[in-house]
Amino acid sequence: MTESANIARTDATGRDEMVPELLAWTSSLSDDRLLVREDLLGSAAHVTMLKNVGLLEAGDAQKLRGALFAMFDEAAAGTLVVPDGEEDIHMAIEARLTRDLGHVGKRLHTARSRNDQVALALRLHVRDQAARTLSEVTGLCADLAARAEQSIDIILPAYTHRQRAQPVSAGFLVSAWAMQLLRAGDALASAIDRTNQSPLGSGACSGTSLPIDRNVVASLLDFPTITANALDTIGDRDFTIDWAYAGARVLLALSRLATDVVDFTTSEFAFLRIGDAIAAGSSMMPQKKNPDVFELVRGKTARGVGNLSSMLTLVKGLPSGYARDLQDDRVAVLDTGPLVRGAVRAVRAGIVHLSFNAEACVAAVSDGSTQATDVAEALVRKGVPFREAYKATGQVVHLARERKIPLVKVTLDEARAIHEAFDQGVLAVLDPRVAVAAKKSAGGTAPERVREQVAIIRQKASELSRNAEKIATLESLKKRIEAAAI
Ligand code: ARG
Repeated sequence: MTESANIARTDATGRDEMVPELLAWTSSLSDDRLLVREDLLGSAAHVTMLKNVGLLEAGDAQKLRGALFAMFDEAAAGTLVVPDGEEDIHMAIEARLTRDLGHVGKRLHTARSRNDQVALALRLHVRDQAARTLSEVTGLCADLAARAEQSIDIILPAYTHRQRAQPVSAGFLVSAWAMQLLRAGDALASAIDRTNQSPLGSGACSGTSLPIDRNVVASLLDFPTITANALDTIGDRDFTIDWAYAGARVLLALSRLATDVVDFTTSEFAFLRIGDAIAAGSSMMPQKKNPDVFELVRGKTARGVGNLSSMLTLVKGLPSGYARDLQDDRVAVLDTGPLVRGAVRAVRAGIVHLSFNAEACVAAVSDGSTQATDVAEALVRKGVPFREAYKATGQVVHLARERKIPLVKVTLDEARAIHEAFDQGVLAVLDPRVAVAAKKSAGGTAPERVREQVAIIRQKASELSRNAEKIATLESLKKRIEAAAI
């Protein structure tokens, strides 16, 4: 992974003889530096537990924990220096501890393997990243709820097969975007739940003969439970798959929203105006105001799906236990959080600079053709069987087409000549506003139904955001461990 040939100087892994190029190539240090704070917290919790059960003396435990927390602060400040030439961040930290503390550093790895250590750092990382992502997703949902509420009176066509289908309110469209995102939020919440188990104490693959207490570590790191089988635990990356999947779900929701935005800002649709603050120009065509932000949201979704697919493929066919293949999870796992949150933030910042062009929106449904279903349903309300109403309305549509006039221009007399149940009231639903107001079925587009949907979005978003807030930040975990006596 790194081009450097000076790797794995430590003797802890006993690999001094390995070909330098291969030591370099097999190192993950350049990727997993991002796990440094998670690893330090895991070690601090481990040290605390070792002291509790009598495997470390108080003085040594204090020295170790102090050094680990000092490195944590340096990492947070961006000043932490860990030696290069190591196989991974875990060895690099141990090497620095041993350099700083001498032989005390050599006690840290008691009753621990890098296999369970890596699993712990990854779980801490995924839980933290998924919670942060969830809270940003719920923020976007709240923004969309507000936008939906403001857009209830704007009418535009809904599409099926990308053909104009039926009139809806813009608030209804925006609510639909939010609903999909909320489901992605559910996926994040469930990824958090499944990640939330402490793997430490599994050792290399079968536990340890030393008298550890796994529950102490779990409680210090705020894991509600510990994993149940050591062999399973050290080869388990299902939680990273859940994370990559949930991230991909967020991106998929955003990319579909993005396509609506890209389409609707074209002059062909013209339902949305794009503000200069987010429009990109063309290097050649002076007239262009391009929706690049939303195109990139769609583009970055490919990487998110790729991360999921590489995690699935990485695990497929591995034997029980640990295999070094698993080290390559780092690229996909560590990329997912920044990738997804970047796209969420871009949409949040971008959407503020989009405004519905209410006249263009309603103009697209003003000729009446998208209200044909509403006419048929009005006939049904007068007692006409649906198939008969459908046929009669179809004949009226046909007549308008033949005469090359909009459906709204068909007169009552002409309609009555087709079916006697037509009257003023039936034809009134050709007005898109009347048609939208009439769609009062649960989940429909009538204004009162959209207000209910807005309330559902707000309620669900705040529920999910409370879930996210329950997850301890890395900073607060540090305080929690620091407060534990040793
Ligand atoms: N560098 C590996 C990783 O990050 C850890 C190695 C675990 N065990 C081993 N015996 N090589 O996944």
